[in-house]
Amino acid sequence: MVRRYTGVQFVNLDLLTYAGNLENLVELESSENYQFVRGDIADADLVDDLFSRFRFSTVVHFAAESHVDRSIENPLSFVQTNVIGTAILLEAARKHWPAARPEDAVRFHHVSTDEVFGSLGLSGEFTEQTPYSPRSPYAASKASSDHFVRAYSETYRLPIVISNCSNNFGPYQFPEKLIPLVITNAVHEKPIPVYGKGDNVRDWLYVADHCEALDLILRRGTSGGTYLVGGKNEVPNLRLVEMIVDLVDTVLERSPGTGRKLIRFVDDRPGHDFRYAVDTTRIESELGWKPAHSLENALEYTVKWYLSNSEWMQSVHTETYRNYYDRMYGDRLDTDEQV
Ligand code: DAU
Repeated sequence: MVRRYTGVQFVNLDLLTYAGNLENLVELESSENYQFVRGDIADADLVDDLFSRFRFSTVVHFAAESHVDRSIENPLSFVQTNVIGTAILLEAARKHWPAARPEDAVRFHHVSTDEVFGSLGLSGEFTEQTPYSPRSPYAASKASSDHFVRAYSETYRLPIVISNCSNNFGPYQFPEKLIPLVITNAVHEKPIPVYGKGDNVRDWLYVADHCEALDLILRRGTSGGTYLVGGKNEVPNLRLVEMIVDLVDTVLERSPGTGRKLIRFVDDRPGHDFRYAVDTTRIESELGWKPAHSLENALEYTVKWYLSNSEWMQSVHTETYRNYYDRMYGDRLDTDEQV
């Protein structure tokens, strides 16, 4: 679902690394108030140039290396994009918004994660006051970027807001994350890896609910504030995997239990956080937000979306989506617009 905003110009800056897929945004391409720029948030000259050219009033910073397992393999790429990239965006905002004050309409919104708070046991929830305790290189990089954003608010009075969300899911998610990975493997009858005993708990937030929350936080959130966003859908991993494979069996009219036979318990993720859960009282009471989707309905919709978008799945697996940028923008590469 694409919401149209009139009277607002959007510039989408994205490096299109392995998970970036412009085909996901095809609905936006014809919009007059939307422009795509391929580039790196850690490229200071580019970011400075974009601030000069477009005179942004708002930055919504989603750009990140986001996969915990990849951060364990290659932590420095997470430092580069998540820490350095965020600092470069902040520097550009500081330079180009010299007179901005917290009460102004300009806003730097950092989209972050509940993983900055560490790991919970069987009970309890993170709140906006929970001290940071990141445990993976990914979480440490996001904690660091949150700290930079707050430091710019305190030191330079940059108008900022931070949101920390739980596990997102829904259409178009790159199949390295648990839900699309399980759907894909179940469809192709490949082994489904469950880390450890599968008893780690995540709180699943449907992507459309997250987008609603971000829209509210950006427009009405308190400057300098932090908002926690969660789906109220806590499930142990093994239970979630079983729900998904059962749905795949049903939709594909396979005999019950086919998908469950694919489940394999594999070595645990090093430093695997046991449980995340967030207290969403602040966003509910201040901004009137609540997740509108139940896990059951949104999961069924998501499974059906992946099963009926086999071309998209195929293009992700064969990586042909990587050619899409050249097909769409290749003829512009020799012009001044090239970045
Ligand atoms: O909590 C928010 C975070 O959620 C985001 O900040 C991260 O960017 C996002 O990747 C996600 O982190 P997780 O590590 O929780 O998500 P992931 O989908 O990788 O794994 C979910 C759970 O499933 C986790 O407990 C590890 C487990 N898992 C994951 C994979 C990929 C498996 O058991 N097997 C798998 O193959």
